[in-house]
Amino acid sequence: MNEWILNNGVRLPAIGLGVFQSPPDETVAAVESALRAGCRHIDTAAAYGNEREVGEGLRRSGVPREDVFLETKVWVSDYGYDRTLHAFDKAAAKLGVDRLDLLILHQPAAERFESTLESYRALQTLLADGRVRAIGVSNFTPAHLERLMGSATVVPAVNQVELHPYFAQAELQEAHARLGILTQAWSPIGGITFYPGWGDERRSVMDDPTIGKIAGVHGKSPAQVMLRWHYQQGRSAIPKSVNPARIAQNLDIFDFALSEHELARIDALDTGVRSGPDPDVVAPERFEFLIPEA
Ligand SMILES: NC(=O)c1ccc[n+]([C@@H]2O[C@H](COP(=O)([O-])OP(=O)(O)OC[C@H]3O[C@@H](n4cnc5c(N)ncnc54)[C@H](OP(=O)(O)O)[C@@H]3O)[C@@H](O)[C@H]2O)c1
Repeated sequence: MNEWILNNGVRLPAIGLGVFQSPPDETVAAVESALRAGCRHIDTAAAYGNEREVGEGLRRSGVPREDVFLETKVWVSDYGYDRTLHAFDKAAAKLGVDRLDLLILHQPAAERFESTLESYRALQTLLADGRVRAIGVSNFTPAHLERLMGSATVVPAVNQVELHPYFAQAELQEAHARLGILTQAWSPIGGITFYPGWGDERRSVMDDPTIGKIAGVHGKSPAQVMLRWHYQQGRSAIPKSVNPARIAQNLDIFDFALSEHELARIDALDTGVRSGPDPDVVAPERFEFLIPEA
């Protein structure tokens, strides 16, 4: 089974393509290449500035729209009930589709959580109206989820969070399991630990010796081992690449299996320290970044 069934019965492919930091001019080719290689899930966001190119890549691939799972995110400057309804219109128009498969809130925006709750209410309206097939959140902690569930009528289908062998978020994953939320890993192969130009003091998961040894045993790459680790532990993963060979490699993880011992060795790499931003840190400047009209 190479897909997950969300809490409302909608099916989500286990491995998708992420497009954060994919330049618009390379995004069309990356999406087309992924779809031609058999990928059926693309994860973008209003804030990535490449929804239009994702739509173009989809059309150029020739793969029917209904065969592809399209996920995008509402940015915080579009939080609030009416603004989020309009954010859907902007995203759908840029992608060139009538309906989205999954629409999620990009950040908890802890400093204005009331507006986050209003946005989520708008997602529930979009879901009820059949304009999105599933709704969810991103970068929520267990505390954010608890606050959300105090007013939400629909349990989020996914929570997309930083998750790789150096930051495995066991407590959050347990909260997801309790609530019926699918864990979706961003930076699933540790991109945030080695983004080019983001500082040299970080330790790259991609260069981890334990993962390298396990990869050698299976004749697979470190990225494939990490993606297989996510898959065997029941997570959705959305590795980003603009390189056709690496895109194909990241989809090719279904012909080998990690042993319980290997999974445990990867689990043991967790440092408990995130590389990305703390979702509780107040960052009002995020609200100044506006998402253009379609
Ligand atoms: N919700 C959020 O706040 C949030 C935050 C960050 C990311 N995301 C989502 O998650 C997606 C993935 O996360 P990410 O982009 O941070 O990191 P990632 O997918 O873990 O890693 C991407 C990096 O790995 C390289 N790469 C890809 N496949 C490879 C392979 N097989 N071997 C070696 N290197 C490989 C890519 O370079 P090339 O392109 O040159 O191959 C890129 O530098 C994003 O694109 C985005 O959709 C969401």
